Amino acid sequence: MQLVHTVTELRAALGEHRDTAFVPTMGNLHSGHISLIDLARKHGSPVVASIFVNPLQFGIGEDFERYPRTLAADCSQLDAAGCDLVFAPDAQEMYSQPQTFHVQPPLADELCGAFRPGHFQGVATVVLKLFNMVQPRYAVFGKKDYQQLFILKGMVRQFNLPIVILEGETSRADDGLALSSRNAYLTKEERAEAPRLFRLLREAAHRIEVGERDFTAVEQAVSDDLRAHGWRVDYVSVRSQVNLLAPKSQESDSVIIAAAHLGRTRLIDNIECCSGSIDLKRQEI
Ligand code: PAJ
Repeated sequence: MQLVHTVTELRAALGEHRDTAFVPTMGNLHSGHISLIDLARKHGSPVVASIFVNPLQFGIGEDFERYPRTLAADCSQLDAAGCDLVFAPDAQEMYSQPQTFHVQPPLADELCGAFRPGHFQGVATVVLKLFNMVQPRYAVFGKKDYQQLFILKGMVRQFNLPIVILEGETSRADDGLALSSRNAYLTKEERAEAPRLFRLLREAAHRIEVGERDFTAVEQAVSDDLRAHGWRVDYVSVRSQVNLLAPKSQESDSVIIAAAHLGRTRLIDNIECCSGSIDLKRQEI
């Protein structure tokens, strides 16, 4: 596996490859990221991963400075997973000139966008730049960041980018907690409490799947339970899988998306609900 830091080196390493499968990351990799590498390998070659903690997507007072940077360990994991090339630019290489991609409202200003102003502009800007640098045929993103995935799929459609977006399922710990680099911030007590988020989302999804259509009541029940256990809730929201807007009551495919703080750590998670087809696998967790 090759590690490069500049666009010139990247282009030289990629040569004429036209079947590249690309996994953008901010590093501090866990098995959720590696599952995306596995998915990439099934579709294209070479497999390229990027590691860049993108300042543009962090707000003032967020965790940009303390975000874990673990390049050497990340490279060993990527090498073992069969990744061919790692692109790890610095901020100067990425942002030699200021520019921002504009994500259309309302989606960019809702859900996480409402609590992290400018976040999705920052994500879309860096991903568009990375797409132009790597020029992949396939790009892989996780459903863990559901709104991010939705916005990036929209960007690819809006600008006719010749890239196929592949969606990776969320990897979880045995107790259901979605794997995240930010889990490292949790204290021992908070780590024991953290699985409540997905447990509540599962229960809420079950309510919807068996016919509940008072989505506000479902959202409220999850928020109340989290608050009662010391969480600070940003939002819990039932949305349509099709457009990420409030679902119509007859709509069968919805997703419950949530963000909440446990101590100093902000956790996000989501669960898709399909009425009429309860996911038995999910009930085993
Ligand atoms: P990062 O948080 O490092 O995540 C990189 C990719 O891994 C994203 O597509 C994310 O959805 C996916 N991912 C994270 N946790 C996962 C899990 N538990 N299971 C499966 N996939 C998971 O998301 C970003 O970086 C950045 O916003 C980025 C797209 C790289 C732009 O800077």
